[in-house]
Amino acid sequence: MWPLVLTLVVATTGAYGAEVCPGLKTMYLPPQCINDRDKCPQNSTLEPASKVCNMCDGCTAYIQKDGECEPTSGISCKPGYECDEQELKCVAKSCSCQYKADNSYYKSWTPRCDGFDYAPVQCKGEKPTGRCFCFDKKGNRIFGEQLWANAENMTCACSRQVQELQDQGRKDVTLHCNEQGNYEELQCDDGLCWCAEEKTGKPISQILPENMMIMLPCYDKLNVGSAYLRQCESLLIAQKKIEIEMAAHNSRNPNFPYVNCELDGSYGAVQQDGNQYVN
Ligand SMILES: *[C@@H]1O[C@H](CO)[C@@H](O)[C@H](O)[C@H]1NC(C)=O
Ligand SMILES: *[C@@H]1O[C@H](CO)[C@@H](O)[C@H](O)[C@H]1NC(C)=O
Repeated sequence: MWPLVLTLVVATTGAYGAEVCPGLKTMYLPPQCINDRDKCPQNSTLEPASKVCNMCDGCTAYIQKDGECEPTSGISCKPGYECDEQELKCVAKSCSCQYKADNSYYKSWTPRCDGFDYAPVQCKGEKPTGRCFCFDKKGNRIFGEQLWANAENMTCACSRQVQELQDQGRKDVTLHCNEQGNYEELQCDDGLCWCAEEKTGKPISQILPENMMIMLPCYDKLNVGSAYLRQCESLLIAQKKIEIEMAAHNSRNPNFPYVNCELDGSYGAVQQDGNQYVN
């Protein structure tokens, strides 16, 4: 493995140097196949292979906060900042996570940002006693939490995916997230089931039609039984089907209170009872 990687790096250094990739407005440092963010030189950040001229993951130079920039120069501002065309400085947009982090927008904690967006896992308090929560990109709390001390494997990737699918208009998402917002082992959605890697949701088995679920290695008869959907979820999905059916016949929206299910399929803490919320 190593000799091959080294040859590739040496062979392409000449053509590549610190030049701008074709079609990309970013200055890259000389190619270095690096897969650890912490190994990038100061004032540079790790970018995936697709952005580093398709060769390997590597570091790209950036300008610091308030540093002078030129919108057309091709060198990027630090992640989370952009070149203000009037001031010609790298600034954070006022609606971005980075702006809120820089300006102590929250009194008791500083958000972690992924570029302009909120990072999926946000922790508050001190590590020994604090808690971590799942957030969407815009900074809203979503399903999933964990003690900070136990949060090393928490990704919130499942909660994020469910939220994003629902925002795209899908009403019948049935992915199951565990209490820290990661993927449960067995997943079924849209008629298909598979065993998922907990942190990423990537299939680690065949993908089978739902009626063949019991053949999956992660299927656990005691925990799952014959139906993937949990009680709360099956009720909710049935309600949604009635709604879709009634809409097809031009009927008014059904006037029943929807059940509130958590993403692990259990009943939510808050249920709507008529027009009132009860705990
Ligand atoms: C990184 O940026 C800071 C602030 O702009 C600057 O003072 C420092 O010299 C830079 N470091 C390197 C290695 O370029
Ligand atoms: C995190 O994952 C690793 C590897 O699967 C495991 O050994 C470790 O116990 C996990 N940590 C927690 C807090 O669950």
